[in-house]
Amino acid sequence: MRYFGDNIRLVVNDLVVSYTDQGPDEASVIIFIHGFPFNKTMWHKQVESLKDTFRTITYDIRGHGETESEDETFSIELFVNDLISFMDKLRIDKASLCGLSMGGYIALNAIENYPERFDALVLSDTQCLADSPEAKEKRLKAIENIKNNGVEIYADESVKNFFTQESFNAGIAEIEQAKQMIINTSEQSLCNTLLALLNRKETCTKLSEIKVPLLIMVGNDDKITPLAVAEMMHVNIIDSLLKVIEHAGHLSCLENPEAFNKELIEFFDTVYRKETDSNSSGGGSILTDLRNKMMTFLSFNVL
Ligand code: MLT
Repeated sequence: MRYFGDNIRLVVNDLVVSYTDQGPDEASVIIFIHGFPFNKTMWHKQVESLKDTFRTITYDIRGHGETESEDETFSIELFVNDLISFMDKLRIDKASLCGLSMGGYIALNAIENYPERFDALVLSDTQCLADSPEAKEKRLKAIENIKNNGVEIYADESVKNFFTQESFNAGIAEIEQAKQMIINTSEQSLCNTLLALLNRKETCTKLSEIKVPLLIMVGNDDKITPLAVAEMMHVNIIDSLLKVIEHAGHLSCLENPEAFNKELIEFFDTVYRKETDSNSSGGGSILTDLRNKMMTFLSFNVL
């Protein structure tokens, strides 16, 4: 059976994963993967806007939000392994992914290693490059800063890079929301994840192998993963779409949710309408839905 609602706790291997599952049972599944150092609540407005049509799942990555984790080494590979185990546990055979920044790193690694598990990808404010030596140096300094000065000062400093000046001038509530998400992440998890980001491998050389529909979105004023890196991915991925979200920095889904959601809905309508059309003569999303439904008959443990 499917557990429906907010903040469900599910045991996945060694981990208690906190997730929110909304939308109709038979609908195509979209899994949202948050950025660093945030949590599943950053997708609230996307869930509200898509849940009547799609089954939307948001979850807290290991060490973030309400998914607690022991003191251990984090890596993008571990996060991908968690994602696949989570899908297995929910008996979801196939889904689409929508990842922002670190969520995009996870989505790119997941499609590279498990291409048969995904219908489509949305990559938002992210990149395929590994960290440069300067970026690695910055991460090490950030770890030092967190250890010496605490999480609040780190949150105050880092939030400055996430939004446009326009939003700071207007004092939008999402700035405080982002800050609180950072403050609610433990010092240990912040440091563990910074090391995982520092050590991540590039995925640019695998972009041409991506065969599913793909939408790239980027805030027009994203200072962390700017338009140029989004354009680079766009030219290397066959049939990808690139949409620039105006009045937005790095957290475009939070800063301009109206524009972000419009692109998301248009994209997924096309992906799943196309699949449904081709289903009249064969495979596609009805088959996927049937497979997913059959899998939910199998038992799974919820705390
Ligand atoms: C994120 O939003 O996930 C981070 O900016 C990713 C990063 O620091 O590379």
